[in-house]
Amino acid sequence: DALRGEGGALSGRHVVVTAGPTHEPLDPVRYVANRSSGKQGYAIARACRQLGARVTLVAGPTALPDPRGIETVHVETARQMLAASEAALPADAFVACAAVADYRPAYETEHKVKKERGGLTAIDLTENPDVLASIARHASRRPALVIGFAAETDDVLGHAEAKRARKGCDWIVANDVSPGTGTMGGDRNAVTLITGEGDEAWEDLPKSEVSRRLAERIAGALGPAPG
Ligand code: CTP
Ligand code: CA
Repeated sequence: DALRGEGGALSGRHVVVTAGPTHEPLDPVRYVANRSSGKQGYAIARACRQLGARVTLVAGPTALPDPRGIETVHVETARQMLAASEAALPADAFVACAAVADYRPAYETEHKVKKERGGLTAIDLTENPDVLASIARHASRRPALVIGFAAETDDVLGHAEAKRARKGCDWIVANDVSPGTGTMGGDRNAVTLITGEGDEAWEDLPKSEVSRRLAERIAGALGPAPG
Protein backbone atom coordinates (compact mmCIF):
# COMPACT_ATOMS: atom_id res chain seq x y z
CA ASP A 1 0.00 0.00 0.00
CA ALA A 2 1.53 3.30 -1.08
CA LEU A 3 0.94 5.56 1.88
CA ARG A 4 0.74 9.26 1.29
CA GLY A 5 0.58 9.47 5.09
CA GLU A 6 1.78 12.66 6.75
CA GLY A 7 0.63 15.64 4.78
CA GLY A 8 -2.27 13.66 3.26
CA ALA A 9 -5.66 15.32 3.21
CA LEU A 10 -6.83 13.19 6.16
CA SER A 11 -3.70 13.36 8.27
CA GLY A 12 -4.47 14.13 11.91
CA ARG A 13 -7.95 12.64 11.47
CA HIS A 14 -9.43 9.47 12.93
CA VAL A 15 -11.89 7.53 10.79
CA VAL A 16 -13.88 4.52 12.03
CA VAL A 17 -15.25 2.12 9.40
CA THR A 18 -17.57 -0.86 9.94
CA ALA A 19 -17.37 -3.66 7.38
CA GLY A 20 -18.54 -7.15 6.59
CA PRO A 21 -21.54 -9.07 7.89
CA THR A 22 -22.45 -9.90 11.46
CA HIS A 23 -23.03 -13.44 12.63
CA GLU A 24 -25.76 -13.94 15.21
CA PRO A 25 -25.39 -17.28 16.98
CA LEU A 26 -28.24 -19.69 17.47
CA ASP A 27 -26.22 -22.49 19.00
CA PRO A 28 -22.50 -23.35 18.91
CA VAL A 29 -22.62 -24.35 15.23
CA ARG A 30 -25.35 -22.20 13.65
CA TYR A 31 -25.84 -18.52 13.01
CA VAL A 32 -28.06 -16.01 11.23
CA ALA A 33 -26.20 -13.59 8.96
CA ASN A 34 -26.35 -11.08 6.14
CA ARG A 35 -24.60 -11.44 2.81
CA SER A 36 -21.45 -9.29 2.67
CA SER A 37 -17.91 -9.83 1.42
CA GLY A 38 -16.52 -6.84 3.35
CA LYS A 39 -14.68 -5.68 0.23
CA GLN A 40 -16.22 -2.20 0.04
CA GLY A 41 -15.66 -1.44 3.72
CA TYR A 42 -12.07 -2.69 3.69
CA ALA A 43 -11.40 -0.60 0.58
CA ILE A 44 -12.78 2.52 2.30
CA ALA A 45 -10.57 1.89 5.32
CA ARG A 46 -7.52 1.57 3.02
CA ALA A 47 -8.43 4.70 1.05
CA CYS A 48 -8.75 6.78 4.23
CA ARG A 49 -5.42 5.41 5.44
CA GLN A 50 -3.82 6.33 2.14
CA LEU A 51 -4.90 9.93 2.70
CA GLY A 52 -3.11 9.82 6.05
CA ALA A 53 -5.98 9.15 8.48
CA ARG A 54 -5.66 6.96 11.52
CA VAL A 55 -8.24 4.28 10.76
CA THR A 56 -10.07 1.84 13.01
CA LEU A 57 -11.78 -0.95 11.07
CA VAL A 58 -14.53 -2.74 12.98
CA ALA A 59 -14.96 -5.91 10.97
CA GLY A 60 -17.44 -8.75 11.08
CA PRO A 61 -16.37 -12.17 9.81
CA THR A 62 -14.87 -11.94 6.30
CA ALA A 63 -12.28 -13.85 4.28
CA LEU A 64 -10.10 -10.73 3.92
CA PRO A 65 -6.66 -10.25 5.48
CA ASP A 66 -6.18 -7.38 7.97
CA PRO A 67 -5.12 -4.30 5.97
CA ARG A 68 -1.66 -3.05 6.82
CA GLY A 69 -1.39 0.06 8.96
CA ILE A 70 -5.00 -0.15 10.09
CA GLU A 71 -6.21 -1.16 13.54
CA THR A 72 -8.67 -3.95 12.82
CA VAL A 73 -11.08 -4.96 15.57
CA HIS A 74 -12.77 -8.29 14.82
CA VAL A 75 -16.33 -8.82 15.99
CA GLU A 76 -19.05 -11.38 15.35
CA THR A 77 -22.37 -9.91 16.39
CA ALA A 78 -24.19 -6.59 15.97
CA ARG A 79 -23.98 -5.96 19.68
CA GLN A 80 -20.21 -6.47 19.60
CA MET A 81 -19.97 -4.20 16.55
CA LEU A 82 -21.80 -1.44 18.41
CA ALA A 83 -19.60 -1.83 21.50
CA ALA A 84 -16.39 -1.81 19.44
CA SER A 85 -17.55 1.22 17.42
CA GLU A 86 -18.38 3.17 20.57
CA ALA A 87 -15.07 2.15 22.12
CA ALA A 88 -13.25 3.52 19.05
CA LEU A 89 -14.65 7.03 19.57
CA PRO A 90 -13.79 9.86 19.45
CA ALA A 91 -13.53 9.97 15.69
CA ASP A 92 -13.83 12.67 13.04
CA ALA A 93 -15.76 10.47 10.64
CA PHE A 94 -17.73 7.25 10.95
CA VAL A 95 -18.50 5.15 7.89
CA ALA A 96 -21.03 2.35 8.39
CA CYS A 97 -20.43 -0.08 5.56
CA ALA A 98 -21.26 -3.27 7.45
CA ALA A 99 -24.23 -5.43 6.51
CA VAL A 100 -25.51 -5.78 10.05
CA ALA A 101 -28.05 -8.52 10.74
CA ASP A 102 -31.24 -6.69 11.63
CA TYR A 103 -32.39 -9.53 13.88
CA ARG A 104 -30.74 -12.15 16.04
CA PRO A 105 -32.10 -15.38 17.47
CA ALA A 106 -33.91 -14.48 20.68
CA TYR A 107 -32.36 -17.44 22.49
CA GLU A 108 -28.83 -18.76 22.10
CA THR A 109 -28.25 -22.22 23.49
CA GLU A 110 -24.93 -23.61 24.66
CA HIS A 111 -25.96 -27.00 23.40
CA LYS A 112 -26.30 -27.92 19.78
CA VAL A 113 -29.95 -28.16 18.73
CA LYS A 114 -30.55 -31.78 17.70
CA LYS A 115 -32.89 -32.95 14.99
CA GLU A 116 -34.10 -35.99 16.87
CA ARG A 117 -35.23 -33.87 19.84
CA GLY A 118 -37.76 -31.95 17.79
CA GLY A 119 -35.03 -29.90 16.14
CA LEU A 120 -35.39 -26.53 14.60
CA THR A 121 -38.50 -25.69 12.64
CA ALA A 122 -38.74 -21.99 13.52
CA ILE A 123 -36.43 -19.35 14.99
CA ASP A 124 -37.66 -16.64 17.36
CA LEU A 125 -35.94 -13.40 16.44
CA THR A 126 -35.34 -10.16 18.30
CA GLU A 127 -34.18 -6.84 16.83
CA ASN A 128 -30.52 -5.87 16.95
CA PRO A 129 -29.25 -2.42 17.89
CA ASP A 130 -28.65 -0.05 14.97
CA VAL A 131 -24.93 0.73 15.00
CA LEU A 132 -25.17 3.63 12.54
CA ALA A 133 -28.14 5.32 14.23
CA SER A 134 -26.53 4.87 17.65
CA ILE A 135 -23.31 6.58 16.55
CA ALA A 136 -25.20 9.28 14.61
CA ARG A 137 -27.19 10.09 17.76
CA HIS A 138 -24.35 9.59 20.23
CA ALA A 139 -24.92 11.91 23.18
CA SER A 140 -21.35 13.03 23.83
CA ARG A 141 -19.05 11.81 21.04
CA ARG A 142 -20.91 12.09 17.75
CA PRO A 143 -18.32 12.23 14.95
CA ALA A 144 -18.49 15.40 12.82
CA LEU A 145 -19.34 13.35 9.75
CA VAL A 146 -21.46 10.18 9.91
CA ILE A 147 -21.95 8.22 6.69
CA GLY A 148 -24.23 5.26 6.08
CA PHE A 149 -24.70 2.86 3.21
CA ALA A 150 -28.05 1.78 1.84
CA ALA A 151 -28.09 -1.41 -0.16
CA GLU A 152 -31.46 -1.38 -1.90
CA THR A 153 -33.50 -2.86 -4.68
CA ASP A 154 -36.41 -0.95 -6.30
CA ASP A 155 -36.76 2.85 -5.66
CA VAL A 156 -33.10 2.90 -4.55
CA LEU A 157 -32.74 6.67 -4.12
CA GLY A 158 -36.12 7.09 -2.41
CA HIS A 159 -35.36 4.41 0.17
CA ALA A 160 -31.83 5.76 0.69
CA GLU A 161 -32.92 9.36 1.29
CA ALA A 162 -35.57 8.20 3.77
CA LYS A 163 -32.89 6.14 5.52
CA ARG A 164 -30.55 9.14 5.80
CA ALA A 165 -33.25 11.08 7.65
CA ARG A 166 -34.36 8.17 9.82
CA LYS A 167 -30.87 7.28 11.00
CA GLY A 168 -29.67 10.83 11.61
CA CYS A 169 -26.56 10.41 9.47
CA ASP A 170 -25.10 13.19 7.32
CA TRP A 171 -24.51 11.32 4.08
CA ILE A 172 -25.72 8.06 2.67
CA VAL A 173 -24.18 6.01 -0.11
CA ALA A 174 -26.98 4.35 -2.06
CA ASN A 175 -26.14 1.08 -3.65
CA ASP A 176 -28.29 -0.87 -6.12
CA VAL A 177 -27.93 -4.54 -5.20
CA SER A 178 -30.61 -5.93 -7.51
CA PRO A 179 -29.67 -9.36 -8.87
CA GLY A 180 -27.82 -8.84 -12.14
CA THR A 181 -25.91 -5.72 -11.04
CA GLY A 182 -23.09 -7.98 -9.81
CA THR A 183 -22.25 -5.57 -7.00
CA MET A 184 -22.82 -8.08 -4.18
CA GLY A 185 -19.53 -9.84 -3.58
CA GLY A 186 -17.98 -8.38 -6.72
CA ASP A 187 -15.12 -5.93 -7.15
CA ARG A 188 -17.15 -3.16 -8.79
CA ASN A 189 -19.92 -0.96 -7.50
CA ALA A 190 -22.41 1.62 -8.76
CA VAL A 191 -23.43 4.09 -6.08
CA THR A 192 -25.05 7.46 -5.55
CA LEU A 193 -23.69 9.73 -2.83
CA ILE A 194 -26.57 11.55 -1.14
CA THR A 195 -25.39 14.50 0.94
CA GLY A 196 -28.55 16.53 1.37
CA GLU A 197 -27.01 19.08 -0.99
CA GLY A 198 -27.53 17.21 -4.23
CA ASP A 199 -26.86 13.66 -5.37
CA GLU A 200 -23.74 12.44 -7.15
CA ALA A 201 -23.92 9.25 -9.22
CA TRP A 202 -20.70 7.23 -9.43
CA GLU A 203 -21.47 4.61 -12.02
CA ASP A 204 -19.81 1.23 -12.40
CA LEU A 205 -16.45 1.82 -10.74
CA PRO A 206 -14.02 -0.51 -9.00
CA LYS A 207 -14.74 -0.56 -5.25
CA SER A 208 -11.25 0.90 -4.77
CA GLU A 209 -12.21 3.95 -6.87
CA VAL A 210 -15.54 4.43 -5.06
CA SER A 211 -13.49 4.34 -1.86
CA ARG A 212 -10.89 6.83 -3.10
CA ARG A 213 -13.61 9.30 -4.08
CA LEU A 214 -15.42 8.87 -0.79
CA ALA A 215 -12.19 9.38 1.20
CA GLU A 216 -11.53 12.56 -0.76
CA ARG A 217 -15.05 13.81 -0.13
CA ILE A 218 -14.61 13.09 3.58
CA ALA A 219 -11.35 15.05 3.62
CA GLY A 220 -13.01 17.94 1.81
CA ALA A 221 -15.93 18.05 4.24
CA LEU A 222 -13.71 17.87 7.35
CA GLY A 223 -11.17 20.37 6.06
CA PRO A 224 -7.58 20.43 7.33
CA ALA A 225 -7.06 19.01 10.82
CA PRO A 226 -6.41 21.66 13.48
CA GLY A 227 -2.85 21.87 14.82
N1 CTP B 1 -26.87 -0.47 10.01
C1 CTP B 1 -26.31 -0.55 11.27
N2 CTP B 1 -26.87 -1.35 12.24
C2 CTP B 1 -27.96 -2.08 11.96
C3 CTP B 1 -28.56 -2.01 10.68
C4 CTP B 1 -27.98 -1.20 9.74
O1 CTP B 1 -25.29 0.12 11.51
N3 CTP B 1 -28.49 -2.85 12.92
C5 CTP B 1 -26.29 0.45 9.03
C6 CTP B 1 -25.62 -0.22 7.85
O2 CTP B 1 -24.24 -0.42 8.11
C7 CTP B 1 -25.83 0.81 6.74
C8 CTP B 1 -27.14 1.45 7.11
O3 CTP B 1 -27.34 1.21 8.50
O4 CTP B 1 -24.86 1.82 6.79
C9 CTP B 1 -28.32 0.98 6.34
O5 CTP B 1 -28.48 -0.40 6.50
P1 CTP B 1 -29.74 -1.08 5.88
O6 CTP B 1 -29.73 -2.53 6.21
O7 CTP B 1 -29.82 -0.68 4.44
O8 CTP B 1 -30.90 -0.31 6.67
P2 CTP B 1 -32.00 -0.79 7.70
O9 CTP B 1 -32.32 0.38 8.55
O10 CTP B 1 -31.57 -2.01 8.41
O11 CTP B 1 -33.28 -1.06 6.80
P3 CTP B 1 -33.69 -2.33 5.88
O12 CTP B 1 -32.70 -3.42 6.08
O13 CTP B 1 -35.05 -2.68 6.37
O14 CTP B 1 -33.71 -1.79 4.47
CA1 CA C 1 -30.91 -3.93 7.39
